[in-house]
Amino acid sequence: KNNIEIGLLGLGTVGNGIIHILNHHKKELMAKTGAADITVRKVLVRDLEKQRDGNVTKEMVTTKAEEVLDDPNIDLVIEVMGGIEEAKQYIEKALRNEKHVVSANKDLIALHGDELLALAEENNAEFLYEASVAGGIPILRSLTEGLASDRITKMIGIVNGTTNYMLTKMTKEELSYDEALQQAKDLGFAESDPTADLEGLDAARKMVILARLGFSASVQLDEVYLKGMTEVTAEDIDFGQQLGYTLKLIGLASRSDEGIEVSVEPVFIPEDHPLASVNDEYNAVYVYGEAVGETMFYGPGAGSLPTATAVVSDVMGVIRQIRLGTAATQVNAADKEDTVLKKEE
Ligand code: NAP
Ligand code: HSE
Repeated sequence: KNNIEIGLLGLGTVGNGIIHILNHHKKELMAKTGAADITVRKVLVRDLEKQRDGNVTKEMVTTKAEEVLDDPNIDLVIEVMGGIEEAKQYIEKALRNEKHVVSANKDLIALHGDELLALAEENNAEFLYEASVAGGIPILRSLTEGLASDRITKMIGIVNGTTNYMLTKMTKEELSYDEALQQAKDLGFAESDPTADLEGLDAARKMVILARLGFSASVQLDEVYLKGMTEVTAEDIDFGQQLGYTLKLIGLASRSDEGIEVSVEPVFIPEDHPLASVNDEYNAVYVYGEAVGETMFYGPGAGSLPTATAVVSDVMGVIRQIRLGTAATQVNAADKEDTVLKKEE
């Protein structure tokens, strides 16, 4: 198929970024994938009265999920509405209808990623989610493709843009916790309910996804040691600074003969450590591989356009698969590796 039609679930911060990139980079997207056209056919929202981007007409917008999920013309569904139960039902329905799915929803993927990948495989569909971790940094693809030949033993990440933005503003501009949080909300970095950002759960979900892919292993959210930044005070930050340390919310995933350990907690980092200079909404992930040694991935971890680049790059991957007539996800390949390793043990 050459004319690719997309159904979009959600038109908020990330959804609008996707519309922007699909329109502004359309020629490049078509040239790079070989598609004759790439169009958004239907967009699911909650509120029909809201003013929308000029590229989204009234006819395209709906509050009825079935108009997206049951439309036989739609090849690919992008889920950027957030939440867990409803998003899960919609993604399952899309996959059962043999539509490919791209999602940015780490809440859902950390909990039900394995199930959704299995369902995708059963239905010969793709399920990709690069945008779910570290926004614009192509870290999942780097783990499953670029570093696929290595044995990764450790990942250290600043993977939540909201808390990193807040800690930066509290440290460098002496903003209060509430002022910094309000700015992170206004800039579209925080979740609609920022509790998961602040309590470290958002970072924990992302570390679980990284650990699964980096270690080709089954890692569950309830195995993560978790401490967020809700109790961090200006005094803690000042105290650290006086001693030459910067406070960061750090995710750590490591594997050894004893097993896999994943944690998220505020950590004082020496000011001359590279992670100490990851500021604002930027994210960074250090990856240690036995063969490659140390690598570090750095870039914007939240926000409309950076996150949308990851989503649209996944969309391009799906279009290439549609045009080739194959559908085997990078992530399923990692799962299979785990199965093979377990059999060998
Ligand atoms: P958002 O700005 O709150 O937008 C959510 C959109 O989904 C809105 O258009 C909303 O409709 C629609 N929506 C929500 N629930 C719905 C429902 N039950 N039925 C129909 N439509 C519904 O959220 P966002 O920041 O774009 O985030 C979307 C997803 O991407 C989340 O999973 C988030 O965790 C993830 N993500 C976000 C970022 C970021 O930087 N913001 C980065 C990476 C991943 P209305 O417009 O009518 O309200
Ligand atoms: N709320 C998330 C963050 C969005 O601040 O990192 C990107 O996943």
